[in-house]
Amino acid sequence: MANLSNIQQEVLYIIQKAADSLRQDQHFDTVQRKSNRNDLVTDRDRQIEQYIVQYLAAKFPEAKIISEEKTSSLITSVEGLVFFVDPIDGTMNFVKCHDQFAIMIGVYQDGEPLFGAIANVMADQVIYGGPQVGTFLNQTPLPKVPDLPLVDSLVTISTRLLWQQDPNYQLIVHASSGLRVFGSAGIIWSRLVCGQQNLYISKLKPWDLAAGRALAMKNGIMVRNIDGSPINMLQSQTVIIGTKCATDEALSLINKRA
Ligand code: IPD
Ligand code: CA
Ligand code: CA
Repeated sequence: MANLSNIQQEVLYIIQKAADSLRQDQHFDTVQRKSNRNDLVTDRDRQIEQYIVQYLAAKFPEAKIISEEKTSSLITSVEGLVFFVDPIDGTMNFVKCHDQFAIMIGVYQDGEPLFGAIANVMADQVIYGGPQVGTFLNQTPLPKVPDLPLVDSLVTISTRLLWQQDPNYQLIVHASSGLRVFGSAGIIWSRLVCGQQNLYISKLKPWDLAAGRALAMKNGIMVRNIDGSPINMLQSQTVIIGTKCATDEALSLINKRA
């Protein structure tokens, strides 16, 4: 069984080192497209991923590592200790505006959230925590987020879902305090746990979900699959994330018109 305080110490050490290196130098040499013209990877994504993966693999040789740019090998089971690594979350922001991007590391034991850390690189902030740890921002405990109704909540719904012109998602925006768009799931996670917004709906990949799901659990933030099925940490899924009141109201708006 993994030692949680050792995991916390090593994850915080390596995410801070990676974030410091990216903050001090945002230079990149190559940009490539992946699934579409706005889905980018730079040589810095690969370099940061390799740096984190090599460190974690040396410290936790028994663990599996699922990383976005596939420095690690294919994983088909979440049994045991598993690290999820997103080396630069918000690569488009990194490339275009050198701001609003994050590094995320999530740690799970037999599929259950254990610990998560997200570095908001340019703000020099690391949020971290877990179900047995609580939620912290740069070592300061974060209070539980107030359970505000949708009418008092700022929301983020991914542009892909809004472009589908699904009236359900438009209804949620109309019922809220307004829509905010950031281009980085990690930045939105940090806004959710700091109470700066209360709702986020998006199709997320395991490395977009893992860290935030683990660190936000004690902070009043819920994560649910939009179709009601259990979260599967080996596949992409559309999730609704936020305070209980806001997510309940948004789900009932979605289901009313389904
Ligand atoms: C993406 C960003 C984006 C979210 C996408 C992610 P990446 O991550 O977090 O905000 O909408 O679903 O894939 O590709 O920049 O690491
Ligand atoms: Ca990424
Ligand atoms: Ca990502």
